[in-house]
Amino acid sequence: MQQRWSAMDAYIEAHLLPEDPTLQQAFQNTEAHGLPGHLAVAPNQGMLLQMLIQMNRCKRVLELGTFTAYSTLWLARALPQDGYILTIEARDIHAVRAQENIDQAGLPQTIELKVGRATEILKSLPPGFEPFDFIFIDADKQSYPEYLELCLNFSHSGTVIVLDNVIRAGDILNAENHKPSIEGIRTMYRLMQNHPRLLSSTALQTVGSKGHDGFAIAIVK
Ligand code: DHB
Ligand code: MG
Repeated sequence: MQQRWSAMDAYIEAHLLPEDPTLQQAFQNTEAHGLPGHLAVAPNQGMLLQMLIQMNRCKRVLELGTFTAYSTLWLARALPQDGYILTIEARDIHAVRAQENIDQAGLPQTIELKVGRATEILKSLPPGFEPFDFIFIDADKQSYPEYLELCLNFSHSGTVIVLDNVIRAGDILNAENHKPSIEGIRTMYRLMQNHPRLLSSTALQTVGSKGHDGFAIAIVK
């Protein structure tokens, strides 16, 4: 099935997605340095993130897990010129390429890349730090519960939170799988269930060039 899913993603991309040399270059720069391109969002997923931002007229975006900033550039392109993104990446080898890709894109929006553990960076933001309108959580899956709670401190009513990779080909259902990443996502589901600060939550399974995976989406109350 993977071949069929990838071919269909290519078809969608050819018909509906703009050719963007900046994004293509960012992706090529990822694989050219031996970094695993499959960690990046697919173009049609990047477009979905962009559209969620546009629908909600978001101006301030937080991303946890920059990787090489391919998704960051999709997020940035959705913003008005005075838009702001704070993106956090824990691994130096990713952050070097991310900064390169951000610089090469030369977008008018402000993209601030901070390198370090997202929990520590979020905890170090000054009190009264202006909340974000849109949050994309795509860092280590083990820490999703902690990230979700911390992100709520930087949200306002109506903030949209998207969490990537919450299906993992259905591994979430395999009771014998106790990998920290899988346990982290299970805990995230329990946390989202009836969370007093969330208005509504759902998750969508996707198939495509990235296999069988999906997003969770929540709106802050
Ligand atoms: C992995 C992480 C991701 O964020 C993703 O989109 C796909 C795979 C991973 O760690 O395997
Ligand atoms: Mg991901």
